[in-house]
Amino acid sequence: MDFPSDLIRFLTKAERVSVLTGAGASQESGLRTFRDSQSGLWAQYRPEDLASPEAFARDPKLVWDWYAWRREAIKGVRPNAGHYALVEMENKIPTFTLVTQNVDGLHRFAGSRNLLELHGNILRVRCANCGTFTETWGDDTESVPKCERCSGLLRPDVVWFGEALPRAELESAVNAAREAQVFFSIGTSGVVQPAAALAHAARNKGAVVVEINAEPTPLTPKTDFAFHGKSGEILPELVKAVWGNNSR
Ligand code: APR
Repeated sequence: MDFPSDLIRFLTKAERVSVLTGAGASQESGLRTFRDSQSGLWAQYRPEDLASPEAFARDPKLVWDWYAWRREAIKGVRPNAGHYALVEMENKIPTFTLVTQNVDGLHRFAGSRNLLELHGNILRVRCANCGTFTETWGDDTESVPKCERCSGLLRPDVVWFGEALPRAELESAVNAAREAQVFFSIGTSGVVQPAAALAHAARNKGAVVVEINAEPTPLTPKTDFAFHGKSGEILPELVKAVWGNNSR
C-alpha cells in the first residue's frame, strides 16, 4: 500500500502518538465481535441482556457461565500482526499510549506496555461486593464462585452496560488524546461513548487523526487520513513504510 508522504513525515517526527482500538483490531485473531459472538447454547440471549449489573443480580450463574465460555474462547486465540505492529510503533515513539475498548487482553499478550483497558479485562476477576481481585477461584459448576475475603460473588472485571468507565483510565485516555500529535482510531465503529469522543478531543487539540477500519465510520469525514481494510494488514505495512523493515 502507498501511504501519503505527509503521513510518513508526521509519524517520523512524532514524539507523542495515541491509539484507540476496538473489536476490529481483534477480528483477525479469530475473535468474533461482541455481537457476533452468540452461538450454540448462547444464541438465544442478547449480549446486552447478559452484560449488565441487572442481569448479574437476576441470574448471576447465567452471567458467570457466559463469561466463563467467552474466557475459554479467548484462551485459544493469539495476537495478530496488527497487535504486534502497535508494539513496534510503541518502541519507536517516545510517548505512546494505547487505549483499547477490547476486553480480550490481546494487546497485553502481544507486549504493549503503556496500555489503558477502558472496558476492563475479561481474564481478570473481582469480587462484586468488596472489589478484591482474584486470580484463582473454585470450579464448582453449581454456583458462582465466592470471594475468599467477604464471600461476595465473583464477577469479571469488565465494564457492563450502565456502568461507569474506570475513572483513572478514562482520565489518562483523555489526556493522552489531547496531548497526541498523531491519533489513530483502529477497528472501532466509533459509536460508543465516551471512547468515541477521544478522536474528537485529539482533533480539537490539533492532532493529525488517522483511521484504520474495515469500513467508513461516522469519524471518517473528520479524519486527516482514512484507510479502509484490515488493521492486521495495514498497520504492519505502515510501520514498515515509516520505520523500515524490522516490524514483525
Ligand atoms: N480491521 C479493521 N477494522 C475491522 C476489522 C479488521 N480486520 N474487522 C472489523 N472491523 C471494523 C468493523 O467494520 C467495525 O466498524 O471494526 C469495527 C468494530 O466495531 P464494533 O463491533 O462496534 O466494536 P467497537 O467499536 O469496539 O465497540 C465498542 O461496544 O459492543 C460494545 O463494549 C463493546 O467494547 C465494545 C464497544
